[in-house]
Amino acid sequence: MPAALFSSPAAAGALAASSWRCRLGVGGDSLLDNTAQAISIEGRRLSFSVASKHSAALPILKDCSLCVPAGQLWMLLGLNGCGKSTLLKVLAGLLKPTEGTLRVNKPKSFVFQNPDHQVVMPTVEADVAFGLGKFHLTPDEVKSRVSVALDAVGMLKYSQRPIQTLSGGQKQRVAIAGALAEACKVLLLDELTTFLDEYDQLGVIKAVKNCVSSNGEVAALWVTHRLEELKYADGAFYMEDGRIVMHGDVPSIIEFLQQKQANYIEHFNL
Ligand SMILES: Nc1ncnc2c1ncn2[C@@H]1O[C@H](COP(=O)(O)OP(=O)(O)O)[C@@H](O)[C@H]1O
Ligand SMILES: [Mg+2]
Repeated sequence: MPAALFSSPAAAGALAASSWRCRLGVGGDSLLDNTAQAISIEGRRLSFSVASKHSAALPILKDCSLCVPAGQLWMLLGLNGCGKSTLLKVLAGLLKPTEGTLRVNKPKSFVFQNPDHQVVMPTVEADVAFGLGKFHLTPDEVKSRVSVALDAVGMLKYSQRPIQTLSGGQKQRVAIAGALAEACKVLLLDELTTFLDEYDQLGVIKAVKNCVSSNGEVAALWVTHRLEELKYADGAFYMEDGRIVMHGDVPSIIEFLQQKQANYIEHFNL
């Protein structure tokens, strides 16, 4: 693995000890070793720049490599403006990387921060069924897919409810059910819990955790700034200034964050 991915030898060592099975070394064709789980999201050396008035190009993402196995929930952490949403959009295919390669299982779904931007139909059931038109299913098949998806996010009993009577977190869970009903294999979730209270926050994160761990085929990448959500993750990436500077399992990420905090306090001699 390239040392440049890690902020320190300790971080690299922590990663080596984690359950990570994806080789990010440049040059090899396969990113998996023999004992690997299937990889659902794989990006290698991704960069993204935008045109700027003052210079030829303004780099937003710099040499980001990551992979997420099927059946796992990984988190993408970092301060505001470090590039999390941009990376997620690149993985979703909404932005084209300037450099690098990516492979993301399909179907994939991008769920946005604001719940009101993604629920479109008058009732919960109709909203989850909305995206199924393209599959030419029978009415019974639609009903069955909608019920299974709503059950997975704990919203089955709300199927007849008007959308406007739901809380923000319930709307997020309906949006996730819509993705599951379309048999999405990859969920890309951008700060879903930012506007939610603690109860709603827990409902959404537990729904996502349940979706990924229940059948082993769905992978989720969850952008958050709420560190308490880490306890639901199988692993995490930490970004700084457009780069992934650390990744690993939850204990190694927590150790990394604690070390960062300690360095910060020491720096100011507090
Ligand atoms: N289209 C763009 N043009 C110029 N700057 C952008 C564009 N998109 C994102 N940025 C800048 O890139 C940085 C990363 O943005 P973003 O990915 O939204 O960060 P995050 O989600 O971590 O808060 C920010 O400084 C943002 O202002
Ligand atoms: Mg963002």
